[in-house]
Formats: sequence, structure tokens, C-alpha cells
Amino acid sequence: MTSVGAGVRVIGSGAATAPQCLTNEDLSQMVDTSDEWIWTRTGIGQRQLCTEETSLAMLAAEAGRQALSAAQLDPQALDLIILATSTPDDLFGSAGQVQQLLGAERAVAFDLTAACSGFVFALTTAAQFIRTGAYRNILVIGADVLSRWVDWSDRSTCVLFGDGAGAVLLQASDETDNLLAFDLYTNGSLNSCLNLPYQGQPKTLIADKQVTQGNYQPISMNGREVYRFAVARVPEVIEKVLFQAQCQTSDIDWLILHQANQRIMDAVGERLKIPAERILSNLAHYGNTSAASIPLALDEAVRQGKIKPGDLLALSGFGAGLSWGAALLRWG
Ligand code: UT7
Repeated sequence: MTSVGAGVRVIGSGAATAPQCLTNEDLSQMVDTSDEWIWTRTGIGQRQLCTEETSLAMLAAEAGRQALSAAQLDPQALDLIILATSTPDDLFGSAGQVQQLLGAERAVAFDLTAACSGFVFALTTAAQFIRTGAYRNILVIGADVLSRWVDWSDRSTCVLFGDGAGAVLLQASDETDNLLAFDLYTNGSLNSCLNLPYQGQPKTLIADKQVTQGNYQPISMNGREVYRFAVARVPEVIEKVLFQAQCQTSDIDWLILHQANQRIMDAVGERLKIPAERILSNLAHYGNTSAASIPLALDEAVRQGKIKPGDLLALSGFGAGLSWGAALLRWG
């Protein structure tokens, strides 16, 4: 246990990308689409996809390993691992496998499902454990392998998604609290806009007892509706966290949005009057990697030396639920 009232610091980040590259050109051989359509409507040029040999847990563990190495922290020092994912290898959760792969025997580990908002939800959940004094070192991983659940014959969704993982390591601090503000929302009335639904067939056990057994159906999405939702709600929630922290948009060094569509990122930037050069984008290379997209973009910018200690980051995730949220984080 650490002292009650501890603050939150990020002490490392990591990422892992999937091994095979699928270009827009490749996709145009599979469905009626073109590089030009995908590029102009989304800003995506290619995406990285897992193979049979790469599990979600392996990808997540690699991102975690990198974050531990960046922070020079022994896996045994971890108290908690939160794995934000909607595509676990095992419906009972994949965090246990990640714990084992990392050799973090002391850490309790659990999955958190909030689709593309998963990383922001997991980050803020982790912060609560630190602030209450329950845990000191927490690994937060966002990882998804949506390629398993995409309908590869549906051009309206299959061009969007990729696989990946990203992680940050949070540590309790007595000197500072670098999570300046957060705000999370869900609007379940829009739930049907984005789903990966279970569909079961009735199965009779004995005369009057019936259950269902089945499988998950591929991703279905009302793209226009989700687009409208994101462009309205994301700027609003970022303004709310800025207000909570008594900051201005001009204080933001880096805006790191869920990487769903370049047009969404441009629209949010315009609405908040944040110049394009302060908005991180790696969508061109990875597509929409769901819970992985924010930490993947974040880690890339840290390793490129763009994000420096003391920088103010505004993170915002949005997606299925429909859920959305934002966090204002001082780096380092
Ligand atoms: O992380 C989860 C969050 N998800 C999102 O943020 C997704 C948000 N939505 C979007 O990013 C966009 O709505 C899409 C990229 C999914 C679609 O872009 P859009 O500009 O909203 O296109 P649309 O759905 O309005 O479709 C325009 C046209 C349609 O043809 P008609 O009806 O105008 O003849 C589509 O059939 O584009 C057609 N279309 C395509 N054409 C070529 C749809 N997908 C494709 C495609 N290639 N891949």
C-alpha cells in the first residue's frame, strides 16, 4: 500500500505492431474500393494485421514489456495490469495470459472492455487505484485484434481497422499528480450504431429448459452516425477537461485522439482551434486499432522525441457503447 492521496505519474510507454501489412491496393483486390476512396475519406494508407502466430496476449505483452523497459521497472514490481481490449483471446479475459508472459506474478490483472474508448477508460480506472493508495505501479495496456471480427467482404468497415497494442506505466507519486482531469460518458441509446454482437441459436437441454449457443457476428457500424457523434462529443469532452483543470486549448502541446478517421481529427482540431501540427496522427500506417490507437500514437511520438517531459497531452477516445471520454495528462 502507498499513502492515500498519492498522485499519478506516467513513467514509461511501449507499443507493439502486428507483423503483416495490408495496403489499400491489397484491399481493392478484395472488395469494390480504391486507394483514392480510402485515402480521401479516412486518411488510412495501410494497416498492420496479426497472423495465426500472433495472439492478442502476445501483442499486449510486448507493448507492456517495452513500457517496463522504458521505465526500467522490474515486472515483479507491478501491482496491477489493466488490459483494455474488446478482442481477447479468451472470453474469460486475456490479462492473466499477459501477466504470465510478462512474469509479473505479483500483479492482479483484469480485462476492461470499452472498445475504442478502452484506453482512456483504463487509464482513468488505474488512476483511481493509485489515488486511493491501493496500488503503486500499474501497467495500462490498450490492445485489439479487430481483424478477427471484421467482415472482409464489407467495404464499409473492412478498410478501416488494423491490429496493435500500446501501453503506459503509471506510478504513484508523492510530489505530483499529472492526471489533471478526466471525463467519461456512455450513451447506450446509440448502442446499435456500432456492434460486434453475439448471436445464438436455441438449444434445448431437456423438455422445458432452453439456452442459446452461438458466436459473435462481424462488426456492424453506422459510419455516418458514429462520425456525427464523434465530431460533436469529442470537442465538447475536451473542453470539459480543460475547464476542470483551468487550462486553455492553447496550453495543449499534443492532442492525441482515437485514430478512427483523419477527417474526424481535422474537424475536432478546427473546432478547438488546435493547429494540425499539434495533433498526432499515425492513422496512415495503422488504420483504426481500437483500444490500441491512442497509446500507439503516444508511444511513437515519445520515441520520436516529440513528446517531452512536462508536455500537456489531451487524450480522447470514442466508439462503441457509444462511449467517449478525455483525459488531460502532464507527461513525465
Ligand atoms: O473506432 C470506431 C469509431 N468509428 C468511427 O469513427 C467511424 C466513423 N465514420 C467514418 O469514419 C465514416 O463514416 C466512414 C469512413 C466509415 C465512411 O465515410 P463516409 O464519408 O461517411 O461515407 P458514407 O458511408 O457516407 O458512404 C459514401 C459512399 C456510399 O456510396 P453511395 O451510397 O454514395 O453511392 C458508400 O457505399 O461511399 C461508399 N463506400 C465506399 N466506396 C468505396 C463506402 N465504403 C466504401 C469503400 N470504398 N470502402
